[in-house]
Amino acid sequence: MSKQSNISRMTAPQIAARKGGEPIVSLTAYHAHTAALIDPFVDFMLVGDSLGMVMHGYDTTVPVPLDLMIMHGAAVVRGSSRALVVVDMPFGSYEESPPIAFRNAARVLKETGCGAIKLEGGVHMAKTITYLTTRGIPVMAHIGLTPQSVNVMGGFKTQGREEKEWESLEQDAKAVAEAGAFAVVIEGMAELLAARITKMIAIPTIGIGASVDCDGQILVLEDMLGLSPRVPKFVKEFGHLGQAIETAVQAYATEVKSREFPSREHVYEMKKSKNNTTSKTGSDK
Ligand code: KIV
Repeated sequence: MSKQSNISRMTAPQIAARKGGEPIVSLTAYHAHTAALIDPFVDFMLVGDSLGMVMHGYDTTVPVPLDLMIMHGAAVVRGSSRALVVVDMPFGSYEESPPIAFRNAARVLKETGCGAIKLEGGVHMAKTITYLTTRGIPVMAHIGLTPQSVNVMGGFKTQGREEKEWESLEQDAKAVAEAGAFAVVIEGMAELLAARITKMIAIPTIGIGASVDCDGQILVLEDMLGLSPRVPKFVKEFGHLGQAIETAVQAYATEVKSREFPSREHVYEMKKSKNNTTSKTGSDK
């Protein structure tokens, strides 16, 4: 190759190098427009399979198809230029075997242009993580509350609130780090344990409902913007866009009904003809 690489985005190794340093900032993104808005402020954006619940009205993330993740992933890559884009592997696309995981993850990388994938699971996914990372696919792991396992967990349950659960959760964290993941999301985990795991492993931990001591934090964008009807305890609403949308749409409806909108400034006038009479064929410019 004669051309130098022109990678200008954050990369998975750059995220990995932030272990113990400045906290890593991340949010979910599902479409090009919001990706562009958050791009200057985040280190990575996650095209989370939570989009199935947030945007598509599913009760869980289980039904989300791979093609939907690819469609949203490609839009987020097109809308951003700076942050690393990580795309979630949906339920059923990677658990069966490492080669199947590779085939689907390679599709995600090739068809979206993203820089990494994320998958859920600890000890039992370690082999797959090594298989992918040694074949050119950067992997972010996800342990603790893993929403794709909602049916075996019997609900979205916080993990590690009893000490007897700690051993297996710590084993999960160590396994994904040793298998080659460049970072790990820790979701819905007792604060003390999340902080302990952060000290214990060599890769960055990204907390969501975990601990301020994690190496970074992530939230679902719609939750922190105040667009979600109900949010879990760990979400802080940094904005109130739901209210702003209601106010704007109410004002629009009122003005449409009163014929106040569209006013003169929002309509197109007829072109003036040469002899200064009005033309009958107005342009739409
Ligand atoms: O799908 C998602 O949005 C996630 C985050 C909650 C980490 O996995």
